[in-house]
Amino acid sequence: MSKRVVMVTGAARGLGAAIAERFHAAGYLVAIADIAESQASKLASMLSADGSSACAIALDVTSKAAFGAAREALLARWGRIDVLVNNAGMSKVTPIMDITAEQFDHVINVNLRSVLFGCQVFGQYFADLGIGRIVNIGSLAGQNGGSATGAHYAAAKGGVLTLTKVFARDLASSGVTVNAISPGPMDLPIVYESVPADKLDAVIANIPVGRLGSPGMWQTWPYYLHLSRRILPTAHVGISTAGYSCAKTVRIASCNARPSCAK
Ligand SMILES: NC(=O)c1ccc[n+]([C@@H]2O[C@H](COP(=O)([O-])OP(=O)(O)OC[C@H]3O[C@@H](n4cnc5c(N)ncnc54)[C@H](O)[C@@H]3O)[C@@H](O)[C@H]2O)c1
Repeated sequence: MSKRVVMVTGAARGLGAAIAERFHAAGYLVAIADIAESQASKLASMLSADGSSACAIALDVTSKAAFGAAREALLARWGRIDVLVNNAGMSKVTPIMDITAEQFDHVINVNLRSVLFGCQVFGQYFADLGIGRIVNIGSLAGQNGGSATGAHYAAAKGGVLTLTKVFARDLASSGVTVNAISPGPMDLPIVYESVPADKLDAVIANIPVGRLGSPGMWQTWPYYLHLSRRILPTAHVGISTAGYSCAKTVRIASCNARPSCAK
């Protein structure tokens, strides 16, 4: 059997890169899809110098056509796709009263519209096959409004969880699972870039366990959510374990006849 294929969006750096590396280490063929093409190519060649097990894909997640092109490019290259991780995201720390229409739309598009398009384009392909896995990356901000992020980002991430549940319900009967994870603030570059140094201590002090989350822990979740075979969770939302909350499984009433539903 040919090796399984995963596409991770926004994988040129940060959490996406860590998730891509985790799948690659487990023997998957990995597509690093990102708008930052040269950074994506750098990571791909680091993982696989000859491109046999990792490749970069130029993708702007705000475009449905771009998702379609990415899917076709991957099928042409490796002949199959098994997992999509919708990870690409961006945040701007802007006071809620100052957010402009353009800023709102941009943040919503990158964080939320991307998930709609990714789930539509890959979800349809998986549904036609009768199997497939999608993992969406939300954020604790989607539940609690966020500690060092903008309201548009928090609203988008709340929407990611809602879309996850709707796609999970609608695709469950086709053998496709759709799950999400919602990390709290992690020890990753974007946190240091977006939170002013003099405010970072206060953000960390507000985290119940008193430290930024470990990307090493979160990089593993999408991999395990994909692996579950006997009991396949769907519409599962893993929330930050930094003391704020714990994982919840949301049962979908309409899919209880299917083996792919959470028991
Ligand atoms: N870092 C955290 O503490 C944290 C906490 C909770 C959730 N998250 C979520 O985890 C995910 C990854 O976060 P990160 O910290 O690695 O962020 P990051 O900014 O380091 O990486 C985001 C990646 O997305 C890419 N990207 C941005 N816009 C894009 C577009 N239009 N099309 C394609 N790619 C695009 C960027 O080029 C970058 O490689 C995001 O969804 C973020 O919201 C992060």
